[in-house]
Amino acid sequence: MTILGIETSCDDTGIAVLEVTEGETPAFRILSNAIASQIDVHQEYGGVFPSLAKREHIKNLPITLKKSLQESGVEKTDAIAVTYGPGLAPCLWTGINFAKELAQKWNVPLVPVDHMEGHLLIGLTANEKSQNPKPKFQTNLNFQVPNDVFPAVALIVSGGHTQLVLVKDIGDYQLIGETRDDAAGECFDKTARILGLPYPGGPEIAKQAADFKIQNSNFKISLPRPMMHTKDYDFSFSGLKTAVLYDYKARPEQERQSKEYIQEMASEIQQSVIDVLLHKTMKAAEEFGAKSVILGGGVSANDELRHVLTNKAGAINVKTLMPPKNLSTDNGLMIALAGYFTYKANSYEKNPENIAATPNLRIA
Ligand code: KG4
Ligand code: ZN
Repeated sequence: MTILGIETSCDDTGIAVLEVTEGETPAFRILSNAIASQIDVHQEYGGVFPSLAKREHIKNLPITLKKSLQESGVEKTDAIAVTYGPGLAPCLWTGINFAKELAQKWNVPLVPVDHMEGHLLIGLTANEKSQNPKPKFQTNLNFQVPNDVFPAVALIVSGGHTQLVLVKDIGDYQLIGETRDDAAGECFDKTARILGLPYPGGPEIAKQAADFKIQNSNFKISLPRPMMHTKDYDFSFSGLKTAVLYDYKARPEQERQSKEYIQEMASEIQQSVIDVLLHKTMKAAEEFGAKSVILGGGVSANDELRHVLTNKAGAINVKTLMPPKNLSTDNGLMIALAGYFTYKANSYEKNPENIAATPNLRIA
């Protein structure tokens, strides 16, 4: 069967066509994965501006659909999946309304999808071959859900969310921890802004951090590791942002604008975020006897995070599963994939009239 995935929860308009060969372990083939980015539009504001994002989605949806269908070679799909939460209400509604109309026109089922489940499942389907795809998107990337990975602990880190989820099976989730304030990606975005780096901040911080050499440390910056040793699985990143701001303000203008300071600060920010994320993730993996750790969400594109997680999990014989980097950030494919499993489980709202944007949707 084929399924169309529509994603508009934040600032990317994503539409993908996924083909599924059903069987005991379904096999997936990506027929297309078109994306319209709005980074240019929001860069000026240093973050996503909801009413502008909505306007862009309205403009981009028909164009992205056309592109995705053309690339896939199909005229319509057997089902449509759309993100209904969590995310920005005006953006979610735009995608949902577009999907409702299309489902009616094509006379196919409409499946509402949890954005976070999309981020989670796209990591699960990664395999050897898909780990390092070429930078340009590959349409013929085949993938399959691997055997023997449950129970798993999933760390989903994006611009809006930071969650630890116990995955007993596909569709069987338990939220075991989340951020109490800012998300990890948000922390990168906000601290990057303090340092004068453009939006989105995550890739910029990573780039600056990669250029820092520890032996060249001049500034002895030491940031906190918030909530690292609390007994729960929750996170907090707003204090980290404040600590960066204090350090920055306390430095003379010339010093804090130097390339050396920005690189050293970026490295310490990245290290601090990774330390807390992975400390709690590994603790959860041990406590719940996880066979694998799944990484997902925009921040999972971070090379250092991927590298350290792979090492730490490897050391205790736990597998790591993560999406290829170009599927870490928001895309329609992850929605099509989660949509397929939701459709098969038959546990979704069947009347499209009743599908509504749910900005604060929580997994499990
Ligand atoms: O999942 P996503 O595309 O959108 C949301 O659902 O929020 O995540 C976007 C977030 C942004 O905060 C961005 O700064 C962060 O992912 N990000 C990264 C990297 N690439 C994107 N953070 C750290 N390192 C990266 N390489
Ligand atoms: Zn996301």
